[in-house]
Amino acid sequence: MPVPFLDLSRQNREIRDRALALFSDILEKSAFIGGAYVQEFEANFARFCQVPHGVAVNSGTDALRLAIAACGLEPGDEIITVPFTFIATAEVITQNVARLVFVDIDPDTYNMDPRKLEAAITPRTRGIIPVHLYGNPAPMDAIMDIARRHKLWVVEDACQAHGATLGGRAVGGLGTMGTFSFYPTKNLGATGEGGFVTTHSEELAQKVLALRNHGQSARYAHEFEGYNARMDALKAAVLNEKLRHLPEWNRQRAHWADVYYDGLRQVGDLVLPPITEGATHAWHLFSVRTQQRDALRAFLTERGIGTAVHYPIPLHVQKAYLHLGYAPEDFPVSMECSRTVLSLPLYQGITEPEVAETIAAVRAFFNRS
Ligand SMILES: Cc1ncc(COP(=O)(O)O)c(C=O)c1O
Repeated sequence: MPVPFLDLSRQNREIRDRALALFSDILEKSAFIGGAYVQEFEANFARFCQVPHGVAVNSGTDALRLAIAACGLEPGDEIITVPFTFIATAEVITQNVARLVFVDIDPDTYNMDPRKLEAAITPRTRGIIPVHLYGNPAPMDAIMDIARRHKLWVVEDACQAHGATLGGRAVGGLGTMGTFSFYPTKNLGATGEGGFVTTHSEELAQKVLALRNHGQSARYAHEFEGYNARMDALKAAVLNEKLRHLPEWNRQRAHWADVYYDGLRQVGDLVLPPITEGATHAWHLFSVRTQQRDALRAFLTERGIGTAVHYPIPLHVQKAYLHLGYAPEDFPVSMECSRTVLSLPLYQGITEPEVAETIAAVRAFFNRS
């Protein structure tokens, strides 16, 4: 039986009728940008993240861009993040004319290693962007402790972690600001691009609101230069609908993660995904590790089982960042993870036979070799 790596149509079928009714209403009203649907979604998603303020934007990348711009940056300021992430986390730093500084990840979480963070801080350091990779929260207590001591802001990259918690608190409300992506494949995915900024600070929320709309404080009154990073009503309306399902959808992801754990424990040299102590994982991705990653991937592909690699090349050795002068061995854990990770199918609507088929195929690979 073929098992697609991802099949979004299963999730979208669940909300199809409601989405079509919402589309029809918006077409009738012809209010496409911002408006009541966006405001309603902002209130609902901020509540979901346990924060008082939320601003809906055009993408996760824009959420990061606006959040760090709101926190404050000057040319030459240093911002620290990890090389084992999607490039957007880093791009927004250099495109805001700051200096991009990497620290390695911890093999026990695949997230920023707080023991290495402190050593990377200099008098020019202004902020930190930890990533909750795959939906597993970064060790925010240790990171926030270091940030407080050095008077740094922290913008959480929670683009893969809708609904994850740490110590019972939702990600997005743990740092100075939080950022989310609603790229269609995410746990909460839009009908197109979308993103969100969360914060406890009214002042920062106001700044992001203005940045989202060309720095406007009132119509055609521009306090500073901003961006066009607004969200459409069509996307907000569907996101609102999907948000009602998200707790249940995340529970189902957690169930399938448990099934994978039970089926793949002590199989070959497989390393199952780590979970940060005290965390609830959002299970955006279920990424295992093995020294035979490429062979296992080819074996699964032959049997019609889709997989993906998140991410095959760490940022510090990407052509785009060679000018920073890092050597591959500067971040050995990121290098090792890039060489060995493999994401297995895990999504809303995956079925028991599909998960069983995937487990059986992985086991067959290791029995054979
Ligand atoms: C960790 C991480 N950061 C940032 C982003 C950027 O989000 P978007 O694609 O919505 O711009 C993504 C999404 O792909 C991501 O996974």
